[in-house]
Amino acid sequence: MERTYLMVKPDGVERGLIGEIVGRFERKGLKLVGAKLMKVSLERAERHYAEHKGKDFYERLLQFITSGPVFAMVWEGDQAVGLTRAMIGKTNALEAAPGTIRSDFAIHTNFNLIHGSDSPENADREIRIFFDEEELLSYDKAIQVWI
Ligand code: PPS
Repeated sequence: MERTYLMVKPDGVERGLIGEIVGRFERKGLKLVGAKLMKVSLERAERHYAEHKGKDFYERLLQFITSGPVFAMVWEGDQAVGLTRAMIGKTNALEAAPGTIRSDFAIHTNFNLIHGSDSPENADREIRIFFDEEELLSYDKAIQVWI
């Protein structure tokens, strides 16, 4: 089973889209193993986005992600990283496929509602940045056999 780190960004929290976004992953059949509403410190944001340091949008991204509460989550399931990236859609809402979260709800690349890990390696790294091990649950779902 694969785990991925997903985060409703400050624009999604402020627009009241947490439930809509969480519902999509629930209906897909993925398993929520950890979640919390939190403010991201500058130090955490810098660690999370380290690979983008130096890019023209880096400072704006740090400012944005630390500007208000985010809803941090860990989801589990077969191919969880790839599946959730596909459901989120491309960075630029204009290029996001219809039916994806960004196509349905985002307009601007600066405010694109949700972050999703782009590889299992980055998922492990990001989960460790945002969650302590005891905040993540292991449990069986009775309906898992169907998924
Ligand atoms: S890259 O350069 O291809 O690696 O960039 P990408 O993976 O598309 O995006 C990396 C993260 O930066 C965010 N991003 C932006 N933020 C603000 N303004 C602009 N122009 C911009 N371009 C990219 C993008 O949403 C990614 O953040 P996360 O949190 O992973 O979505």
